[in-house]
Amino acid sequence: KAMQASSGGHAQHAAAVTVTRPVSVTELTGPQTGAPDRRFTLTAQKAKILLPSGKVVEAWTYNGRYPGPELRAKQGELIEVVLENKDISEGVTIHWHGLNVPNAEDGVAGATQDAVLPGEKHVYRFVAEQSGTFWYHSHQQSSVQVKKGLLGALVIEPAAQTKPSSPVLDLTLVHHKLGSGGGITLNGDDGLLKQKVLPGTSVRLRLINADSFPAKVQLQGASFQVAAIDGNEIHEPNLIANQALLLAAGGRYDVTLTMPNASVFLAPSKTDSRHGLLLSPDGTTEVPDLHPDLPTFDPASYGSPQPLPFDLDTRFDRDYRLVFDVQFGFYDGKLDGLWTINGKVFPHTPMLMAKEGDLVKMTFINRSYMDHPMHLHGHHMLVLSRNGAPTTGSPWWTDTLNVAPGETYEVAFRADNPGLWMDHCHNLTHAAMGMTMHLLYE
Ligand code: C2O
Ligand code: CU
Repeated sequence: KAMQASSGGHAQHAAAVTVTRPVSVTELTGPQTGAPDRRFTLTAQKAKILLPSGKVVEAWTYNGRYPGPELRAKQGELIEVVLENKDISEGVTIHWHGLNVPNAEDGVAGATQDAVLPGEKHVYRFVAEQSGTFWYHSHQQSSVQVKKGLLGALVIEPAAQTKPSSPVLDLTLVHHKLGSGGGITLNGDDGLLKQKVLPGTSVRLRLINADSFPAKVQLQGASFQVAAIDGNEIHEPNLIANQALLLAAGGRYDVTLTMPNASVFLAPSKTDSRHGLLLSPDGTTEVPDLHPDLPTFDPASYGSPQPLPFDLDTRFDRDYRLVFDVQFGFYDGKLDGLWTINGKVFPHTPMLMAKEGDLVKMTFINRSYMDHPMHLHGHHMLVLSRNGAPTTGSPWWTDTLNVAPGETYEVAFRADNPGLWMDHCHNLTHAAMGMTMHLLYE
């Protein structure tokens, strides 16, 4: 049941998976006809962004805003997004990070479409098959364009929502550092975000790490649940408190809590209590002291287990061993750190191959000194083990898995979405400097 809710695509295709047949073009595109349930226009344009600290950043934006407008829709709806480019001469796209759309709608310049040049437009059409917290960003020269601000939140609400009995606060928080030299922003604010919230309110915080480095978020003043990871609901999430949340670059956590009678403070850094989100019952602006050393939340043992569609004992159709490392070499004519997969930089990295319906296993081994948040397009991966120990909690589905130095993960997915897909490190500089692969259906 939860499996269906969290990754409907997998369940839907499960019956038809053993038959090999030619892929038809309609599987690679979204519905080309029919009136959309939601229509959005996003115009890529340069804009001067004034941050609350007074810093002015020459940004690249969607609709002149940083972050871009939050797009909200309901599961099952047909979404149409018109992308226009006003003045970004390098061209832009939109990638729907974490949402498994048909391949032609995935927004990867050079793979699924051409970059949209100034004066041009491109229309994306897809049905939102999953609910959850996602985000969107340009996938043309992403290491530059995401840093400059071409990003925003994408929230897909469950199709049928029972009317809540208590007041609700559903708040998205985009964590990102704009340009160089500034600090972390939450929803484009580099200071303190304040909101008055009545005690008893059901709060859902949708944390999106749109930055290229992991975010260690402190949440103090209330016990909470991690209700979803990367848009996938956790099965029976237990209440926890005084734990820091480590979000992979590109990753999302949905946190739920009941507003207590005192302030709740969320800080993107444990050292700086002037930045963050302050929820208070009475409008106070007094920020509590930050705990200096909270243990880190562990998704590998959180929530209750459920039957899995595959596990470590499954016979996989494909098995890839991928070692991440760093070496020095020449890139664009200058000596730099090259981020390698099996000793190679893109395009010499392994090409992952699958037939539709295959079960694919990947083992990630990080031999380098930096985190590698591995992001697979078009599919969700189930985490099977970390450092040799099987996961024991709720099924942990992810699309962006942080592989820390020295760590080994075994993950697997069902190849149920034909096309040409990227699998890359979401430290976008690493992706540009070698850590990029493709998954290709044969
Ligand atoms: Cu969020 Cu290939 O990227
Ligand atoms: Cu990396």
